[in-house]
Amino acid sequence: MKTILVTGGAGFIGGNYLLRMVNLHPENYYVCLDALTYAGNLSTLEAIKNKENFKFVHGNICDKDLVNKLFSEEKFDIVINFAAETHVDRASLYPDLFIETNVVGTQTLLDASLKYSVKRYHQVSTDEVYGDLPLDRKDLLFSESSPIKPSSPYSASKAGADLLCLAYFRTFGLPVTISRCSNNYGPYQYPEKLIPFMVQKAKKGEKLPVYGNGLNVRDWLYVTDHCDAIDVILNKGIPGEVYNIGGHNEKTNLEIIKTILTQMQLPLSLVSFVKDRPGHDLRYAIDPSKICSLGYKSAVSFEDGIKSTIEWNLKNQSWIDSVIGKNAKDFFDAYYKERK
Ligand code: NAD
Ligand code: TYD
Repeated sequence: MKTILVTGGAGFIGGNYLLRMVNLHPENYYVCLDALTYAGNLSTLEAIKNKENFKFVHGNICDKDLVNKLFSEEKFDIVINFAAETHVDRASLYPDLFIETNVVGTQTLLDASLKYSVKRYHQVSTDEVYGDLPLDRKDLLFSESSPIKPSSPYSASKAGADLLCLAYFRTFGLPVTISRCSNNYGPYQYPEKLIPFMVQKAKKGEKLPVYGNGLNVRDWLYVTDHCDAIDVILNKGIPGEVYNIGGHNEKTNLEIIKTILTQMQLPLSLVSFVKDRPGHDLRYAIDPSKICSLGYKSAVSFEDGIKSTIEWNLKNQSWIDSVIGKNAKDFFDAYYKERK
């Protein structure tokens, strides 16, 4: 039996992790610490909220007093840090928030993990810390030794956090592991990220705003495959090591949008090319061979995953309506007005 802190568990990936692991591992006790920002929603955790091996704590990972009190009370064996500001477009509008949560928040958790002798601290990072790859070199993939070369305030803040984690391993011997996953998709993703956002636009019969020429490439992984990979690292990963996570599913943004429109039986004429994202990374592509050598293999095919994700977004309008508040509307107004 292990006591596990899951920060950011009311968000997309942390929420999917909890929904899956609380049921799969009744012997473990899961505590979710989440600040419930615009991206965190308790309705995501509805199905496990009364489980005996689950507890929700409302709080900010940057709040040292709260974090230390929680660590002293719960005596965590494992900490998994999902909590972050995660939207690249928001990072260009409000970079200070990203540094605070992603860097200072990580340091607060690392300090508490050291003070209370946590047996494993796992940092959920992103492939975006590697910057981007050229579109015309399909042979190039991100490996764990690719240079750290972030492009956005989001990826720079995640890279800063990764480097802190590695420094706490080297300087203090904190047993840290880091995972860097490619783009996730699946249920409960906040509806300003590409796939749920485009499904909403299409559903309303509105234009789908594609940045630039739509040829930027992302490497998509179904969210439960990311969750399972984290558990493989917790069980078999070596402290001090970084593990890339991916499933070889490179798609252009236009391919994704065409898939959505085709499944919804809507015309491709809904696509609207708009002003590009500043600093827009061209291509992400993961070499997952290191984590595969631990026995990991992604389980959900892109064809099945995208179909069920589109369906989920169409069937769960009440969840979507419940998570889009004033904060999201202000962001949409600020960001997309400029791109018309
Ligand atoms: P998300 O934006 O959906 O959720 C983030 C969660 O963190 C929310 O519940 C939010 O309330 C919480 N949070 C934010 N600031 C906090 C704070 N200061 N204190 C406590 N809680 C706070 O994000 P996501 O897509 O689920 O991403 C989770 C993690 O996975 C992030 O670290 C992200 O960098 C990483 N990641 C995401 C992807 C992706 O495609 N979404 C890919 C690779 C890695
Ligand atoms: P996003 O979901 O924000 O993830 P990330 O930037 O972390 O990869 O965006 C995925 C891709 O979709 C990215 O290349 C930007 C593009 N995109 C659009 O073209 N239009 C949009 O309205 C959004 C939200 C994203």
